Amino acid sequence: MPYPEALKELIKKVEATRPVRVQRKKAGEELPFMSLEERAETLKFHPDVKDEGRREIKVGPSKGYRIAHEYVDLLEARPRVDPDKIDLTKADYETDVLVIGAGGSGTAAALLAQEAGAKVLIATKLRHGDANTMMAEGGIQAATKGHKDSPYFHYLDVMGGGHFVNTPSLVETLVNEAPDVIKWLEGLGMNFSKYQDGRLKTMHGGGTSRKRMHFAADITGAEIMRTIRDEARNRAADIQVLEFSPAVELVLDDKGRCAGAVLYNLETAEYFLVRAKAVVMATGGSGRLHVQQFMTTNHYGATFDGAVMAYRAGVPVCFLHTIQYHPTGVVFPEQAEGILITEKFRGIGANLVNIEGEQFVNEREPRDVEAASIIKECVLKGKGVPTPTGRFGVWLDSPMIDTLLGEGTVEKEFPGKFILYKRFGIDISKEPMLIYPTLHYQNGGLEYQSSGATRVPGLFVAGEVGGGVHGENRLMGNSLLDILVFGRLAGASAGRWAKEVTNAGKLSLDHVRKYVKDLESAGVGLDRMSPMLLPDYTLPETKERQLTAHYAGTLR
Ligand code: FUM
Repeated sequence: MPYPEALKELIKKVEATRPVRVQRKKAGEELPFMSLEERAETLKFHPDVKDEGRREIKVGPSKGYRIAHEYVDLLEARPRVDPDKIDLTKADYETDVLVIGAGGSGTAAALLAQEAGAKVLIATKLRHGDANTMMAEGGIQAATKGHKDSPYFHYLDVMGGGHFVNTPSLVETLVNEAPDVIKWLEGLGMNFSKYQDGRLKTMHGGGTSRKRMHFAADITGAEIMRTIRDEARNRAADIQVLEFSPAVELVLDDKGRCAGAVLYNLETAEYFLVRAKAVVMATGGSGRLHVQQFMTTNHYGATFDGAVMAYRAGVPVCFLHTIQYHPTGVVFPEQAEGILITEKFRGIGANLVNIEGEQFVNEREPRDVEAASIIKECVLKGKGVPTPTGRFGVWLDSPMIDTLLGEGTVEKEFPGKFILYKRFGIDISKEPMLIYPTLHYQNGGLEYQSSGATRVPGLFVAGEVGGGVHGENRLMGNSLLDILVFGRLAGASAGRWAKEVTNAGKLSLDHVRKYVKDLESAGVGLDRMSPMLLPDYTLPETKERQLTAHYAGTLR
């Protein structure tokens, strides 16, 4: 839907201040970055500070840890399958490495496991590539330009962005492996945005001290996913893909090693068993839990499943007390609610402005500060722009970009968003976008090491389902990097591990039985079921009538 008259009137205020703001940009004059004290003050408006939004987990390896209710609801829930009803003596599939999840991290893991000599089975809830990777826009960080940048500066930026509490060994691995990941992607045929002479284009992201964001227009994730999915499909002799088959429970063996999973066929509604010598958990994040009712950038499968299954099997969680709200998500038109507006808009010049057309924050503050400052502008200062349905947002002044960098830049640099808004009758090279923070990323997750190894032998973790590398706040472009660095490492480790596992143990779901007993003793969670698998947007009154075994447990 195009902007209604009331919003068109308000856009005039943005246009009125634009010439001065463009002049300032051209002169290199920026609003100063906040001091540490100002950042701390601003962060009081971040959704993470609401302590009433959290509670302690009462069971499992991270018992006592306070995290969002939405996470605890799923960790404290009974399993979808009754362990007594699963026949563990007959596997429907046998493989060396089972990869659960088919986004960027899962696919990268599959490729490297195969290169280590393993037969690989990828099991995915939706289709191969239906994942947050596909929807990532802005870029992937790597210190590829030796004379101006190095993994050292990248390390400092990652630590600074994460409030210096990140797991140092994971950060070290992330930044040192980054340049190789870019070479690997180019070698597989990825099309990065380049200058005429073939050099890779790079730009800044929030919280970066160097321009090290590599990108493919505003569809970087889709281009990465296209490249590595094609590669995996080309190796079909060794990499089999099961679509519409989410995992619902991990299976251990009698020696406590991870030895496969129970999967669910979404089409036939049947459970089946995969036996594997190693498992890579690569199920991604949890935006579809809509923590604190926030809209989200995430795809429909992002429902925390991997964290639930691995937690029941004994892997602790960390850094889940912080959640990333991307500063700029669509708040109007409502049909596109929550969709990511890449940070790259701000990176190349667009200002954030309030209802008066005033710029109120430097656009390159770290994400949590930027998001909090937008919420503060709307909630405390009352300078948000009202939408037709009574919500608020601020303007992202995209037309500035064409004024600064030449007509046609917005269409060329942001084809994804240009086309999206065009469908609603909005030309973002001429009219600004109305945005508000949107739930974007699970900063924390399962504990793992640089090799992907977890506390459960034979179980490896990669990508957004893991926690530690980003500390309490991830910077732009380090997620696409994370999934490929740790996807590759976890896949290679799982492939090597699978070669060494010779004596097959007896399969067991005793860890699930024990978990249910713990829930019973704690008196929690028995009225809920997890993993969630798919979000349920059914209205409560309709749900009363529609409740089926298939959807039970997804109540929000
Ligand atoms: O703003 C963005 O393009 C988001 C990138 C990211 O989350 O890494």
